[in-house]
Amino acid sequence: MEILDELEQIRRDGLSALQSVTDEPALEAWRVAHLGRSAPVMQVFSRMGQAAKEQRPIIGQAANQVKLALEAALAETAQVVKEAALQRSLQAERLDVSLPGRRPVQGRLHIETQTLREMYRVFGEMGFQVYRSPDVESDDNNFTALNIPAHHPARDMWDTFYTANPSVLLRTHTSPGQIRAMRQFAPDPIRVALPGMCYRYEQAGARKDIQFMQVELLAVGYNITFGDLKGTLRDFAQRMFGERLRTRLRPSYFPFTEPSAEMDVECVICHGKGCGVCKGSGWLEIMGCGMVHPVVLQNGGYDPSRFTGFAAGMGPGRIAMLRHAIEDIRSLYTNDIRFLEQF
Ligand code: DAH
Repeated sequence: MEILDELEQIRRDGLSALQSVTDEPALEAWRVAHLGRSAPVMQVFSRMGQAAKEQRPIIGQAANQVKLALEAALAETAQVVKEAALQRSLQAERLDVSLPGRRPVQGRLHIETQTLREMYRVFGEMGFQVYRSPDVESDDNNFTALNIPAHHPARDMWDTFYTANPSVLLRTHTSPGQIRAMRQFAPDPIRVALPGMCYRYEQAGARKDIQFMQVELLAVGYNITFGDLKGTLRDFAQRMFGERLRTRLRPSYFPFTEPSAEMDVECVICHGKGCGVCKGSGWLEIMGCGMVHPVVLQNGGYDPSRFTGFAAGMGPGRIAMLRHAIEDIRSLYTNDIRFLEQF
């Protein structure tokens, strides 16, 4: 029977075409061509009606065997193709589990906060506790109680932001916190560090801004001398800037201290030789300080005949600038990630 030869040919053609199938798309194309509705073996089934009645079971059986053979070959090749695809993807998408992972993007503390915390640590070891006081202050605490009466020319040292109520203002320094701390703790001896934002209505530039952080230091007790002030502040400066830098106190004037001084550290850049950063002087100013004025002690609730104390005021921003050679104070507030990432 001719048709049996044809079926044998269909089987051989199918199996040989399957030899060149190596991937999923080719396999699917082969399935459609050789086992799909219009595949040759399927056409044999549909042509069966034309054959003689007694030949039909023979043709049907033979066609069925070809179909089963092709299906079995398809299943076998599908397995091979699948395995090959897996091997290829293992090769191509190789994972080196020993490679270091990607570092997660992680924030950090601002350099001024880091500096501030280091200052707290140093002062904390010396027995000072952090005491917070408000940014919005009374004229009385900011000036009058600090021995700066109304209309006194010393008020010109600060360019003040007043609110609509002239007796309420944005503190120009952290010194009013001294009054608050003293009034809370008098007559007990105290050692406090008073941090916070201060505000001055002045021209901003590379060295100063209208808003800045300050830390005030206050110690009140018995037998506190200028020697205690000097030793405490020098120790602080050495812990912040390193043992090798010299410090000096220069006489100065503040209404709330008597005597008053300013502390300089040896220029961190040129070590005293004189350079652009220290404007040739070899020294950099880091704080104002002095012995608490008797009037201020009195206003805080301490008897100035029994108590003495010292105070100081300094900027962590400025200290950070000196320690890290930051040139423009405005970098601290512009939040440029390229700047912040360095610390
Ligand atoms: N309050 C001063 C200022 O902002 C700084 C200062 C100087 C604070 C001397 C003090 C001090 O406690 O004793 O300019």
